[in-house]
Amino acid sequence: MIENVAKLMQQITHGVYVIAVSDGNKKNAFTASWVMQVSFDPLLLAFSINPQHYSYELLQRGGICSINVLEQGQLDVAAHFAQPYSEEKMKLYDWEYDKTQSSILSECLAYFDCNVSDYMAAGDHEIVICRVLKAGFKGKEKPLLYIETANMDDSQKKYK
Ligand SMILES: Cc1cc2nc3c(=O)[nH]c(=O)nc-3n(C[C@H](O)[C@H](O)[C@H](O)COP(=O)(O)O)c2cc1C
Repeated sequence: MIENVAKLMQQITHGVYVIAVSDGNKKNAFTASWVMQVSFDPLLLAFSINPQHYSYELLQRGGICSINVLEQGQLDVAAHFAQPYSEEKMKLYDWEYDKTQSSILSECLAYFDCNVSDYMAAGDHEIVICRVLKAGFKGKEKPLLYIETANMDDSQKKYK
């Protein structure tokens, strides 16, 4: 048994992201922290998703996503998209569209507009590898950090 595992995992530096997924007109987005770059050329990002999320099926069907980097001052955005799917979830925020037609948060630090290229099983999550087709800056602050979300993801209850 490892003591303080939730706190220890927060020492591995992660940002906070809103990952938007869509299958045609069906759209959703969720807060994520487990995101990383995995290749220079082609430019690939990977993230880890719980297949029980509503977003998972849309991601699988639609095959596109945007990874939106949250900045300092956007803790409320992280909390909003950490809620489970509801019809209202996307409506409170403004969205823009670029190369893949994924929803891109109008207000965030930066965004990556992606095609999904692979899935890999990883315990109770799946790793999704995405190819970045377009990306850009939107904000000017420093990135929000996972450690600053405290127990927003309720992770203290998730370790055995
Ligand atoms: C700070 C934070 C980080 C999170 N990181 C992830 C993550 O990396 N992967 C994941 O699948 N869920 C993550 N979650 C949980 C989802 O955001 C949450 O379960 C959400 O309700 C899923 O939305 P959906 O059911 O509408 O798809 C995180 C939540 C928080 C608050």
